[in-house]
Amino acid sequence: MAILVCGGAGYIGAHAVHQLTAKGEKVVIIDNLQTGHRKAINPAAKFYEGDIRNCDVLKKIFTENKIEAVIHFAANSIVSESVKNPLKYFNNNVYGMQVLLESMVNFGVDKIVFSSTAATYGEPEKIPISEKDKTAPTNPYGESKLMMEKMIKWIPNLRYVSLRYFNAAGAIESGSIGEDHQPETHLIPLILQVPLGKRDHITIFGNDYPTPDGTCLRDYVHVIDLADAHILALNHLREGGESDIFNLGSGQGFSVKEIIAAAEKVTGQNIKTEIGERRAGDPAQLIAASDKARKILKWTPQFTNIEKIIETAWKWHKNHPNGYED
Ligand code: UFG
Repeated sequence: MAILVCGGAGYIGAHAVHQLTAKGEKVVIIDNLQTGHRKAINPAAKFYEGDIRNCDVLKKIFTENKIEAVIHFAANSIVSESVKNPLKYFNNNVYGMQVLLESMVNFGVDKIVFSSTAATYGEPEKIPISEKDKTAPTNPYGESKLMMEKMIKWIPNLRYVSLRYFNAAGAIESGSIGEDHQPETHLIPLILQVPLGKRDHITIFGNDYPTPDGTCLRDYVHVIDLADAHILALNHLREGGESDIFNLGSGQGFSVKEIIAAAEKVTGQNIKTEIGERRAGDPAQLIAASDKARKILKWTPQFTNIEKIIETAWKWHKNHPNGYED
């Protein structure tokens, strides 16, 4: 039996495939390579280039392979883009989920681990954010992921785990795969472009937030720890565990300024900064309570030090300054 990884050529998907194959799991990947990268595809996995909205491709995959469970990463995930083009998000993310679920039902596949997001909560009412807190997304991206979670829950005989990630960061320690978004919008890869000589400075989006140093606090979690949580979630379902939703974060918040200082330490270079306007829709703080994942899934993140997390990202970016294009 194999695990179907939707979006296995993307940033988090590729790291999950690495961890799955390293544990001896048989993996089949579907990816339309819209944001994923051919070079990120693990050679130990069987790859289908295709779109999850195409039921014929899914039919072919489910017919040609014995699929035990699905891990679903295939979605668009840029908040600002989702505000400009919400229907792209409802089409690819929500409709994509519908077609995937229809195919799973048709082929009797009854387990799914879903890649969700802290963006489902919106502006938090309290910190740290727990799974019981109100979900009120402030952008179409978060809304689409919440809709996807809600769709899964209504399918009879389907068991699921939704994993709400906070800020995914870092890369596999060997530096062979890593983060490569076009365009890049995330803080850590953008900061590292300064010591790489690819940008002159990093703009800090607002320094007048109600936080200790005035810049936003985020909860950074290493991509390998995220990948491992998917395997634990899969095993939880295999062992008959209940369908559930879990936050994945370190429980610790770092400010934008603290991340820049840590990157200076890791790279040994000064990183020039400029203060810019606040970015629309950025909450002052997003910090997870992830004790539930630790307790029920027995998730124990290995990367608890922010410098170590940035060190792994630095290794990837230094060796691949142009991402997978090198
Ligand atoms: N930031 C800057 N300058 C930059 C880029 C980012 O100051 O050039 C700041 C942002 O304002 C924010 C922090 O750095 O305060 C982190 O920003 P990211 O864009 O790296 O990440 P976000 O917290 O905005 O987004 C992440 C995920 C989203 C998810 C969101 C909420 O990438 O998918 O968390 O869960 F929706």
